[in-house]
Amino acid sequence: MKILITGGAGFIGSHVVRLFVNKYPNYEIVNLDKLTYAGNLANLSDIENKANYRFVKGDIVDAEFISALFEAEKFNAVVHLAAESHVDRSITNPLEFVYTNVIGTVNLLNAAKKLYTAENNAFKLFYHVSTDEVYGTLGETGMFTETTAYDPHSPYSASKASSDHFVRAYHDTYKLPAVISNCSNNYGPFHFPEKLIPLCIYNIKNNKPLPIYGKGENIRDWLFVEDHAGAIDVIFHKAKTGSTYNIGGHNEWTNIDVIRLLCKIMDQKLNRPAGTNEKLITFVKDRAGHDLRYAIDSSKLQQDLGWKPSLQFEEGLGKTVDWYLANEEWLQSVTSGNYQKYYQEQYVQR
Ligand code: NAD
Ligand code: TYD
Repeated sequence: MKILITGGAGFIGSHVVRLFVNKYPNYEIVNLDKLTYAGNLANLSDIENKANYRFVKGDIVDAEFISALFEAEKFNAVVHLAAESHVDRSITNPLEFVYTNVIGTVNLLNAAKKLYTAENNAFKLFYHVSTDEVYGTLGETGMFTETTAYDPHSPYSASKASSDHFVRAYHDTYKLPAVISNCSNNYGPFHFPEKLIPLCIYNIKNNKPLPIYGKGENIRDWLFVEDHAGAIDVIFHKAKTGSTYNIGGHNEWTNIDVIRLLCKIMDQKLNRPAGTNEKLITFVKDRAGHDLRYAIDSSKLQQDLGWKPSLQFEEGLGKTVDWYLANEEWLQSVTSGNYQKYYQEQYVQR
């Protein structure tokens, strides 16, 4: 089995690559990544020399390159994670999200379709990794299920919704074997510090303000990234083609409660008096089109395929903080250069 994993140098992709490379020594894993600001090969330093792993630098938007790569490598399956993933960046620059998330996905689908037809069905699966944000926003009650109608609000979620539709269209029209999973917010090691949790860990450590959009009342459903990678493994191996699975932790928190908990954990870990870090909380202008609440019903995945999350939030958050405090060099490397400039500009604008 030769598997192409796209976006494997990013946050979730690196956990998926690590899991597949370590758990399946007989699989050949090829990691394709453009290494944007969010992709970092340091995320994979522990497995980079393994015999069943290879890295290819490339852009999924480049149709000719993708077509030639598939023709040369004759992959048996694709796990597609490469994407522009940050909602705030999508508000500033939507077109980049159309290129990578929509056109990039269609380029991969075209190349996979060609292989599926030409290689007498040796191509087995196109696994598309997506987000719960395609479902839009919930009010105070209810949960997203696999049959919830798509209703994206941000340019990011609109681009992911579009890519999901293309994957289903290729399955329905060309019979390309495909599955999709839609997951809630992830957290954990190697998370780029522009997203809420790693940004606040970084800022608490450096005594900087913790920017909370609006009143901090928006709700997200948090899942430890290794649990997401585990779910992808189960779905990849067990799901019927044409199916969709929601992945989530049944773990809803308001943003302000997440940050208060993080402040408390980091008061202890940094030996600061109780209440010190909370003083850094700063309420800033709300995000445009800010979805109020996400909550995932993952009972289909639990019942059909037997997956369930392994970690409680407090435990996972503590583990995550420990990782960031122990990996100062990684933090320094990803927070230098472009990211720092971007963050400064955004923060001043708010
Ligand atoms: P990330 O931003 O950390 O990583 C994305 C990776 O894709 C990076 O390594 C980047 O270099 C690569 N990439 C970007 N554009 C590319 C291109 N044109 N060609 C090749 N590679 C390119 O993202 P993430 O948080 O790890 O998310 C991975 C996937 O999971 C995305 O598809 C995202 O929509 C989905 N997802 C994320 C979350 C979350 O909470 N982060 C939740 C559900 C689903
Ligand atoms: P984020 O980590 O960007 O993930 P997503 O927008 O994909 O859910 O944001 C998580 C929540 O935290 C979201 O409601 C927006 C909010 N948020 C802040 O309050 N401050 C911040 O600086 C960031 C980045 C996010």
